[in-house]
Amino acid sequence: MSPTITIIGSTGLIGLEFLRAIRDGGYRSITAISRRVIPDLSDKSYIHQSINDFTDLESMRSQLKTDVLVCTLGTTIKTAGSQKRFFEIDHDIPLALAEIAREEGCHTFILVSSMGANAQSKIFYSRVKGQLEEAIKGVGFPRLHILRPSMLLGDRQENRPGEFVGKLIMQPLSFLIPWKYKPIQARTLAAKIHELIANEEAGTWTWSGKDLFSKN
Ligand SMILES: NC(=O)c1ccc[n+]([C@@H]2O[C@H](COP(=O)([O-])OP(=O)(O)OC[C@H]3O[C@@H](n4cnc5c(N)ncnc54)[C@H](OP(=O)(O)O)[C@@H]3O)[C@@H](O)[C@H]2O)c1
Repeated sequence: MSPTITIIGSTGLIGLEFLRAIRDGGYRSITAISRRVIPDLSDKSYIHQSINDFTDLESMRSQLKTDVLVCTLGTTIKTAGSQKRFFEIDHDIPLALAEIAREEGCHTFILVSSMGANAQSKIFYSRVKGQLEEAIKGVGFPRLHILRPSMLLGDRQENRPGEFVGKLIMQPLSFLIPWKYKPIQARTLAAKIHELIANEEAGTWTWSGKDLFSKN
C-alpha cells in the first residue's frame, strides 16, 4: 500500500519541488505542515495543507501520525538572527517533531541535511547539522535517509548571494566540480526523495555527492 507522507519545511525550495512532483493518487495521503498557505499548490487539492506556527509542537501530533516524515525545514544564521535561534530551528524543532512522529508510529524519516555535516566540526552550521543527524539516529526510525546536498539551485525569491554565485559561476562549470561539491537542482533532490520513499528496505543511509542525483 502506498504510504502516508507528512512534510515539514514545505514552503521552502526543496519542500515545494517535492510537493510539485506529486500527482493525485501518488500517495495514500500527503500533509504539508507550514507556517503559511502555499499558493502554488492551489491546483493540488489532494495535498492537505496544515497551518501551524511551530511554537506548540505537541499541537502537531495528529499531523505527525504518518508512515513517512520528510524534513526540508531549516533556516540561515542570518535569517535566524543568532546562533541560538538557528540551533532551535535547525536542530530542536526537527528533532522534537521526529520524536513525536516516531511515537505515533512513523517508520521512515527523510532528513535533508547538508554537505559537511559533522557533529565535531569547527564550523557552527556544519556542527549543528551533524548534531541533528546524530540525534535523529537515536530516535529509532526503522528507515532513516539522510541527504547531504551541496548548494541547492532553483527559483528562490529570497536573495542569497552564495546561491547567486553558484548559479552564475558554479553551474556552468559544474562538470569540473567533484561530485561532493556539485550544486544540485532542488528538483533533482526532490526526485531523489520520492525515489527513497519507494525504497522499503530497513536501515540508515547517508546520501551525498553523485548518489543524490536521482536515477529517474
Ligand atoms: N539552500 C542550500 O543551498 C542548502 C544546501 C545544503 C543544505 N541545505 C539544507 O536543506 C534544507 C532545505 O533547504 P531549502 O533551501 O529548501 O530551505 P528554504 O527554502 O530556506 O526553506 C526552509 C523551510 O523551513 C521553514 N522554516 C524556516 N524557519 C522555520 C521556523 N522557525 N519554523 C517553521 N518552519 C521554518 C520555512 O518556512 P517559512 O516559509 O514559513 O519560512 C521553509 O518551509 C535546510 O535544512 C537547509 O539547511 C540547504
